[in-house]
Amino acid sequence: MTLKSRIKDISDDGLGMLEADGRRIYVPFTYPGDVVRVKRTKRRFGRRIARDFELVKGSPLRQTPRCPHFGTCGGCLWQGLRYGEQLRIKAEIFERITGLKAEIKGSPKIWGFRNVSNFIVTTEGIGLKEYGNPLGVVDLRECPVFSKRTPEYLRVLRNFLEETDLKPWNLREKSGEVHYLQVREGKFTGEVMVNLIAHTKPSEGVLEALKDYFSFADSLYWSLKRDDRDDPRGEAELIAGEPYIRERIEDVVYLIHPNSFFQTNSHALRLLLRAVEGFTDGERVLDLYSGVGTFGVWLARRGFKVEGIELNPFAVEMANKNAEINGVNAKFRVGRAEGTSVGDYDTVIVDPPRKGLKEAAELLVKSGVEKIVYVSCNPKAFKLDYERHLKKAYRIDGAVLIDMFPHTPHVEAVMELVRRD
Ligand SMILES: C[S@@+](CC[C@H](N)C(=O)[O-])C[C@H]1O[C@@H](n2cnc3c(N)ncnc32)[C@H](O)[C@@H]1O
Repeated sequence: MTLKSRIKDISDDGLGMLEADGRRIYVPFTYPGDVVRVKRTKRRFGRRIARDFELVKGSPLRQTPRCPHFGTCGGCLWQGLRYGEQLRIKAEIFERITGLKAEIKGSPKIWGFRNVSNFIVTTEGIGLKEYGNPLGVVDLRECPVFSKRTPEYLRVLRNFLEETDLKPWNLREKSGEVHYLQVREGKFTGEVMVNLIAHTKPSEGVLEALKDYFSFADSLYWSLKRDDRDDPRGEAELIAGEPYIRERIEDVVYLIHPNSFFQTNSHALRLLLRAVEGFTDGERVLDLYSGVGTFGVWLARRGFKVEGIELNPFAVEMANKNAEINGVNAKFRVGRAEGTSVGDYDTVIVDPPRKGLKEAAELLVKSGVEKIVYVSCNPKAFKLDYERHLKKAYRIDGAVLIDMFPHTPHVEAVMELVRRD
């Protein structure tokens, strides 16, 4: 097949869409106004996705992508779209899904903003997964959304692998020794954490080489991975330096550990925290799904009395450490949101996983809580939680979008829900 057509719109997950011969085709890395020639498509999850296509005429919404890997790398779909247009389209998609008009705040930095990168180490190459190909890896030279130092990190890794003869992971056979290199940067502290994720325990010689090659790291870990999934997780053992690196967002310091989640855009995090704070009322705050206490500790620093509930015990330990190092009044404990009796709080912050609140939403409806601040990276889940449950007792008084994820279709939304009279 060959068909030429104009991209009319963009899908909720960020793909250009065109209609031809009564069929809709989704074209990655394209934007409204582009004219494309599609040569081959593939069915995926009930949609026809262009696999082989050529850009005939670029849309005026385009900008030159900064990354040489753009178009094959699975990390960024929208680097070819001007940043103002990215923001406009994100707000449009959010409105299409939720029916809510919301102001969108751009990320203060759109290059070098990510504080973490997980480089997969494979026989195909070292870098990031290819777009749409679970067995393909882009042999990375740089990553402008992560760090200027990416070429240095990758060069050191390649030299370390060459000297130690450790085998990279084979994606087809699911075998090998080294699977990932995770690098985290405290953007406001300059601290760097390096974590090598491997399937074998290191010999003395390998450990010496690791310490030598990565001597620039403030914190150096080896994580033993016991499963063959492509995720950068293992049992982390400190090899050299400090057990944590720190990130500083204004007057709050957060600790970062290989096994804990931290919001990935340090620059836009300030805006997210301010948006949450702006919607928070009263004195007593419950931080449900509190993770490492990102919101709770920030709010406690501003004088709120905070309690947090989180399923993951390690995250709770980190949250309590974060409260302690900042000297604030916040207590976090392990628990399930669904099993928490929502008592006497003025505001409840919820930042659930992608699937949303589900049963926990009914608990909130039954509580007497006046104000809910709902933080969501998945507007479809928010919409379901609201329409099915929260709407019975709450109305939406405000919504703001924070672009934590430049050059991708994702956005973080913060909604202010106020109890109906
Ligand atoms: C989107 S993250 C929130 C991150 C947190 N706001 C932060 O910045 O660190 C969702 C969190 O909910 C936790 N979680 C998942 N299911 C849960 C449940 N049923 N009850 C409580 N916490 C849960 C996860 O472990 C994760 O830390």
